[in-house]
Amino acid sequence: MAKRILSGMRPTSRLHLGNVLGALENWKKFEGDDAFFMIADWHALTTEYESKTKIKQNALDVVIDYLAAGLDPKKSTIFLQSLVSEHAELALILSMITPIAWLERNPTYKDQLNEQKGKELATHGFLGYPVLQTADILLYKANAVPVGEDQLPHLELGREIARRFNFLYKKQMFVEAEAILTRTPKVPGLDGRKMSKSYGNTIDLADSPEAVEKKVMQMVTDPARKKREDKGHPEVCPVYYFHKIFNESNQETVASECRSAKRGCVECKKEMAGYLKTFTVPIYEKRKQLELEPQKIKDLVIEGSKKAKTIASQTLAEAKDAVGIGI
Ligand code: TRP
Ligand code: SF4
Repeated sequence: MAKRILSGMRPTSRLHLGNVLGALENWKKFEGDDAFFMIADWHALTTEYESKTKIKQNALDVVIDYLAAGLDPKKSTIFLQSLVSEHAELALILSMITPIAWLERNPTYKDQLNEQKGKELATHGFLGYPVLQTADILLYKANAVPVGEDQLPHLELGREIARRFNFLYKKQMFVEAEAILTRTPKVPGLDGRKMSKSYGNTIDLADSPEAVEKKVMQMVTDPARKKREDKGHPEVCPVYYFHKIFNESNQETVASECRSAKRGCVECKKEMAGYLKTFTVPIYEKRKQLELEPQKIKDLVIEGSKKAKTIASQTLAEAKDAVGIGI
């Protein structure tokens, strides 16, 4: 059976290199009629409900980022979650059958409560985040969801909810979706920690070539290399991580020159920035072009959302029928 793919990102900010290497590159492998890529703006609202206008702008920016990074709206369906109201309706139905205890023991929920300090997240909506995510997946009867490791608990919960629905109402109505994990492990940020907006250590798709270069020059390196003569350990250095990706054929040379202190960190960074820019500059240029035509971007998302809605509305009708609601 062909794989039905669904995945999404929350438009809480513009995308960075970690999003592209960690997620979009993986998504691109599944482009086709049966692939749905969503901008999860309802999910953004669960944590950004106080910021009012920001989600709208970010959503448009994320579509531009998707396109600039090479997702093709002619091949797959790119849509905005809030334009397909079926997501909210199915989430409501699923919320009726999801025990609160399942949601409270979700490790991602607990982590986020700790991480997103300063926000009042003890809300109904935030607790129900995985229920909404399950609705996203089940509406399209997706059997494969390309995501990062951090999403595994949500997907597991989604399978439990699907099983419970099938058990209560209608055998085989929903399929259990599998995660397709990205091969690229966690992309390091400028400070060596995982690249993440909340750490302020990102290289963004909207960064100019000069900004990319400047950020690379600020990157941390192997702390053992205090002096130029100190021998290095490339495997702990984020600069080397990017050499491995963007300067693949020279990675052995870079590593051995680092280990023997033949190369200095400044020249090493300059060289890496050059290779990195061959990847980021075309994205940046395409992004700038797309930004000039916001109406075209909006139309494209409206079109994609209509396509998504035709499938979502069928599934919702089936679900309503199964639970016995409506006329
Ligand atoms: N929770 C996901 C994230 O934070 C985003 C998301 C929302 C999603 N709905 C989804 C991912 C459905 C996969 C499938 O990255
Ligand atoms: Fe990192 Fe390059 Fe310096 Fe080695 S030489 S520590 S790989 S920046």
